[in-house]
Amino acid sequence: MRFLQKSGRIRLLSFIFFGAKPIALDTRGGTPVRTALGAAFLALALSFSTAFASDRTPGQAAIASAHPLATEAGMTILEQGGNAFDAAVAVAAALAVVEPTGSGLGGGGFFLLHRASDSLYTMIDAREKAPLAASRDMFLDEKGDPVRGLSTETALAAGIPGEPAALGYLAEKYGRLPLSKSLAPAIRLAREGFPLYPRLQAGIRFKKDDFRKSPDTARVFLVKGEVPPLGHVIRQPELARTLELLAREGAQAFYEGPFARRLVAGVRKLGGIWSEEDLRQYRVVEREPIVGEYRGARIISASPPASGGIALVNALNILEGFDLESLDPATRIHVIVEAMRRVHRDRAIYLGDPDFVKVPTEMLTSQFYADGQRASLRLDRATPSASLPGIESIGAQGTHTTHFSVIDSEGNRVAATITLNLWFGTGLMVPGTGILLNNQMDDFVIKPGTPNAYQLIGAEANAIAPGKRMLSSSTPTFVESERGVMIAGTPGGSRIIGMVLLAVLDFMAGRSASEIVSAPRFHHQYFPDVLLFEPGAFDQELQQALRQRGHELREGRERWGNLQVVVWDYASGRVEAASDPRGQSGEDVY
Ligand code: DON
Repeated sequence: MRFLQKSGRIRLLSFIFFGAKPIALDTRGGTPVRTALGAAFLALALSFSTAFASDRTPGQAAIASAHPLATEAGMTILEQGGNAFDAAVAVAAALAVVEPTGSGLGGGGFFLLHRASDSLYTMIDAREKAPLAASRDMFLDEKGDPVRGLSTETALAAGIPGEPAALGYLAEKYGRLPLSKSLAPAIRLAREGFPLYPRLQAGIRFKKDDFRKSPDTARVFLVKGEVPPLGHVIRQPELARTLELLAREGAQAFYEGPFARRLVAGVRKLGGIWSEEDLRQYRVVEREPIVGEYRGARIISASPPASGGIALVNALNILEGFDLESLDPATRIHVIVEAMRRVHRDRAIYLGDPDFVKVPTEMLTSQFYADGQRASLRLDRATPSASLPGIESIGAQGTHTTHFSVIDSEGNRVAATITLNLWFGTGLMVPGTGILLNNQMDDFVIKPGTPNAYQLIGAEANAIAPGKRMLSSSTPTFVESERGVMIAGTPGGSRIIGMVLLAVLDFMAGRSASEIVSAPRFHHQYFPDVLLFEPGAFDQELQQALRQRGHELREGRERWGNLQVVVWDYASGRVEAASDPRGQSGEDVY
């Protein structure tokens, strides 16, 4: 596996240089990659001759999302002449309405794109940014200890949202339809409502006490202060009005003008530190995706500030040295876990916002580096995380965040992972706007070595700084192999990377989309040094074999993830979309 520029098969078709001035406000499009020195802006429109994917079209479309109404919204837009990018706008906006636990206009995320006509691969980074008034120690008390709840439950936890800008940018630069058309299904869902379903009801139950503190949130999701019954119609007239504003005036209406002023005033009233300048300055950034190879397949995934692509490619590089399918189950799981452990260590040490820190992408995605990591891996023993040079951990969990995968009949693709962070973000709604505030600031390192809500630790590279983007585990991914194409991703906080890794291995082993989303899961994230597995995923014999190697095992109380997969199989010509049964079950999944 090689990093993009290293592969002989890859051509850089076009370089687009922008000046230091931001590009037109109305797209909310940011100029692309800013160097660590902050001196130059550079965008790479990447294109490479794909070994497998370029000269075919699926002739049919497919969408996998966390809610049937969001999938339907995307399909409607395709039927109206939109492409995968228009459909992505429609799905994301609909999810903001029908799955408010996971994502929304008050949040952000990552959109991995493939445009078939010119074989373009790019990523729209719509990650939230720390407000300009944020500071490194803002969540610590006088003694230097983290103040419980400050980075998750208060308005201080909210980064400057990127999702509205991303929708505007996608529609304008890549779509065929105006935003007004692509947002129409979401507006209708917000205005007319949709029936309460088990997973959302579970989320409301979980957050009930917090909602009672936020009258706007309570008005939307509670009935007389109580959790509504299944089937109760959830209407969001204020969110409908906000979406209508974007449809009418474009995404910039979120960031400048009367609505932006209302947003800032509302956030400040709730105790936050946003300023009008924060909103005015926000831009999405178009970044070069991470690209690697695994057993002849090409892996295209998210780049920093999402950690998923680097970690995924690194893990696959380590695993390339093993014939996984021929190993006995315990050894197979062992080596995958050891790869997970090592890539999560590097995530903790090296990764952060590339506009602020130098991320050693080339090193981390090189085969040479993975060969070294593999050399330290023993087949008969777990490597204690503490024995790897790295960070000392001083040290909780959620199905919030969402992912969707789209392919249109021409072969354009979108893999998008979008998030408010924890359930409903902070759960605080900005009065009069229908906007739930994210709590993404908790994805920064609040204090070196101290775990965040996902028990992830980190270092300087992910420290808080004004205007910086917090590191994410998002791993929206494309795999292109001789067999066909997979589009995949999932929520699940720190468990995202491992889930997508397992999905890639399953795709490479020939499994169907529905088999991939249903497969049992296990997880390791360096610290805590524990091998977690889903209830019932490992039998006694397997557990014994793994314990003998020195793994500390923990059987999770709940299953986790909400994987959304599209597989286009060349041999059958079939395009299959599958949603994780965990997300549909209504069980309290992580
Ligand atoms: O970006 C991240 O890594 C987290 N904010 C994602 C959170 C998440 O997936 C929650 N879902 N369970």
